[in-house]
Amino acid sequence: MAKLKTIKIFDTTLRDGEQSPGASMNIEEKLRIAKQLQKLKVDVIEAGFPIASEGDFEAVKRIAQTIKGPEIAGLCRASTKDIDRGWEALQYAGEKGRIHTFIATSDIHMKYKLQMQPAAVLAAAVKAVKHARSYTPNVEFSCEDAVRTDLKFLAEVVAAVIDAGANTVNIPDTVGYTIPFEYFNIIKYLKDNVVNIDKAIISVHCHNDLGLSVANSIAAVQAGAEQVECTINGIGERAGNCSLEEFVMTLKTRHDILPFKTNVETTQLTPASRLLTTVTGIVVQPNKAIVGANAFAHEAGIHQHGMLMEKSTYEIMTPESVGLKTSVLVLGKHSGRHAFKKRLEELGYDLNEEQLNKAFERFKTLADLKKEVFDEDLDAIVTDEVLRTEEKFKLSHITVTCGSFAVATATVQMEIDGTSVRTAELGDGPVDATLKAIKKLTKAKAELQQYMVGSITGGTDAQGEVTVRLAEGDRTVIGRGSSTDIIEASAKAYINALNRLHYKQEQLRDSL
Ligand code: KIV
Ligand code: ZN
Repeated sequence: MAKLKTIKIFDTTLRDGEQSPGASMNIEEKLRIAKQLQKLKVDVIEAGFPIASEGDFEAVKRIAQTIKGPEIAGLCRASTKDIDRGWEALQYAGEKGRIHTFIATSDIHMKYKLQMQPAAVLAAAVKAVKHARSYTPNVEFSCEDAVRTDLKFLAEVVAAVIDAGANTVNIPDTVGYTIPFEYFNIIKYLKDNVVNIDKAIISVHCHNDLGLSVANSIAAVQAGAEQVECTINGIGERAGNCSLEEFVMTLKTRHDILPFKTNVETTQLTPASRLLTTVTGIVVQPNKAIVGANAFAHEAGIHQHGMLMEKSTYEIMTPESVGLKTSVLVLGKHSGRHAFKKRLEELGYDLNEEQLNKAFERFKTLADLKKEVFDEDLDAIVTDEVLRTEEKFKLSHITVTCGSFAVATATVQMEIDGTSVRTAELGDGPVDATLKAIKKLTKAKAELQQYMVGSITGGTDAQGEVTVRLAEGDRTVIGRGSSTDIIEASAKAYINALNRLHYKQEQLRDSL
């Protein structure tokens, strides 16, 4: 077999991914995702956009201080102020810190968004790269909306920023407009016509508006791109970005015609996907490639028969290769604190003494209610009960009365900024009554756009999992809550979303 060329994986889950509606994460959550990306062995983690807000700045700084292995990138517009702020956060990563600066190069963006002439854009790009180089030799430059950029001008910008010192040049399909054949030709054109192209790595960054982001990234690699920018579960602006797991597994599965590999530890793909869902509440569709619940399920009789005879009849990759394990019973009510702590460590949770005590107490309560406690239950306990401490709104108690002859009534007690408050409301069913009571206590104005109920594990004693989507003005957030009691899960999800909305508003205030 021909020698495989290594393609760098640049993960932008924490930057472009976080731009998904409802995906905002706090600093601790970003750090947890970054630790999982470290286990996944991605080459670069784009940790945020430091000048965008205090929260983004702190997250990039903490990740740069904590994560070892991957390079840490921070996004900066092509401006001195952005780059200075970016490096202030990135410096803690030392030589692994990467300044990622960008400016749009397409006619449409230059004319309407930037209101700049091409020569001025070119000069700004060169100035930004030179300024970034005064901090670090690790500089990436992106030509935003490259796919809709005049090809000759694109080549001119690429040559100029490489001359100015960029060691990676990114050619994004910002609006998800291209198709594989066209994108292949753009990358090939740059490879063939930019004289100094060998002094930099070509990166690609595809959005999924036409559902072609993975296919386009593969075509680009075939044309000579050496870095692919992608996100876990394909989350990102609008229809999302190139899905990391789909891209990586395509290379791994089709070595016969794609002579490329990545450094990704593929058995960490499923844990990464689940962690992101747990943190953001953005669920993956069941038929999503690689990480969807049905990705390895064989339903039709003829398929099941084939699988029993020989797995490769219908399976092109093994579930184990992407880290999928059937949910195994991990703990029961007789399990001790030691086993509990060890299992949490295996799942990637590094809790302090106080958090561990809280989690163990919650686990014991759950183990009394449920015969079997699974990994997914532990995820829910830690994320819902333990890592959500500094929140404005907290649920204390709920009492609900309902039935076919009764008008549903909910009495809800909460803590708001540390003060205990209580109210009761009637509703069209117990969930409606509960959410109305919370709305009254929190004086929330947000509109409930979506309410979804699922179960985390099997059986009637399963933990119910509720996901809600709230919108206020142009901000959308997702909240998640779980409990063996579906009413309590609904209340937790709603309160989680209100806390996220509050966090977003604070972030916005910080950035003004
Ligand atoms: O989509 C895009 O063009 C971007 C750049 C900032 C890289 O996200
Ligand atoms: Zn993007």
